[in-house]
Amino acid sequence: LSGAITLDRGYKNSGSCLSEITFLDGEEGILRYRGYSIEELAEKAHFLEVSYLLIFGELPTAEQLKQYETDIRKYTLVNEEMKNIIDGFPKTAHPMGVLSALTSALTAFNPKAVNPDNPKELYESVCKIMGKFLVIATWTYRKTMGYPLNYYDNTKGYVENFMNLMFHLPTEPYKANPIIVDALDKLFILHADHEQNCSTSTVRMVGSSHAGLFASISAGASALWGPLHGGANQAVLEMLEEIHAHGGDTEKYLAKAKDKDDPFRLMGFGHRVYKNFDPRAKIIKKAADEVLSTLGVDDPILEIAKKLEAAALVDEYFVSRKLYPNVDFYSGIIYRALGIPTDMFTVMFAIGRLPGWIAQWKEMRINKEPIGRPRQIYTGHAFRGFVPVDKR
Ligand code: SDX
Repeated sequence: LSGAITLDRGYKNSGSCLSEITFLDGEEGILRYRGYSIEELAEKAHFLEVSYLLIFGELPTAEQLKQYETDIRKYTLVNEEMKNIIDGFPKTAHPMGVLSALTSALTAFNPKAVNPDNPKELYESVCKIMGKFLVIATWTYRKTMGYPLNYYDNTKGYVENFMNLMFHLPTEPYKANPIIVDALDKLFILHADHEQNCSTSTVRMVGSSHAGLFASISAGASALWGPLHGGANQAVLEMLEEIHAHGGDTEKYLAKAKDKDDPFRLMGFGHRVYKNFDPRAKIIKKAADEVLSTLGVDDPILEIAKKLEAAALVDEYFVSRKLYPNVDFYSGIIYRALGIPTDMFTVMFAIGRLPGWIAQWKEMRINKEPIGRPRQIYTGHAFRGFVPVDKR
């Protein structure tokens, strides 16, 4: 290979940075945020508390958490002119495209570049994006449905507000169901960070040019949208519904997934790092059972997912490639039970991942990481002279 450059497509074997935020062990299936296990945080913490841990490095005291919630509430009002932007989208626009555009548009209303070395400025921009991202994420759904856009209710909690922003109607006030709020809180925690995945690496890359926090988050949302990444949770549900429509014939779809001539992949299976069970998938699978039975939802899709998982876990093709269910395999089943529409599933992932993107952007800037600029191995033409058009 030319010079000192080594080719590592997809950065499968490259480390891009030093980081203190999230620890992943793909062989053992371990995931920790700032040293705390995902199992303990999902069980004992709340999403905003975990967002504080990821972004500022420590679990907040009761006082710090209360102040953080109060400070986020200062910024939950989104500039009314943002409605002109969302009105420009057709109802058929995918919510992830709208979310990415609106997030970038926030820069227009907050033009002052954030100096990450100024703790006060940085803290204020963290509270701004935490407050406004949730609201604009729900506006994408409300717009599709032709519903009036809701406002954050500063008397309610963060996760309860999500459901209120999504489903409150002037004709039918939304009444929070604590089971749903608790399930969502847990799901958001499980999605909150995952070291240098595709969308987080995108946030770091964009931010490394000193582009603003909102612009970097907007880029991360676009990367997450892809079906190989966060878009997989929507693709899993569409796959399971297709299997259901074909009489639940899981064997046929397993065969398709193994057929190299067939582009079909078993969505929600496999992972670049986890070569064992994704610890999040284990927790979400358990939560799916609990939430559906508590809500009295009997979803045949859940049974198909379990049948598919059981078959894949003993199938040589999947076992030899260490392909296990990942975070996206069961999450959509819970979202569906909570009344979230399928094309909003990746938006749910983005809401959960927001604190991780913020934490990683902050660390990248405070560590003064250099601008990202990888090299390549050139395989194109050697030098050749220009040929005038009348001679071609
Ligand atoms: C997320 O990185 C993160 O941390 C991401 C994430 C996060 O929290 O940010 O965890 C969230 O994105 C989870 C992944 C969601 N994506 C999917 O569920 C889509 C289906 N999965 C695959 O496309 C795939 O497994 C990836 C993209 C997740 C990982 O791809 P890799 O690491 O590049 O692996 P690969 O494509 O090189 O696959 C290795 C082999 C290949 O077969 P061979 O060429 O060796 O014969 O495994 C096969 C692949 O064909 N394979 C699959 C498969 N996944 C891999 N075959 C069938 N079905 C699949 N799902």
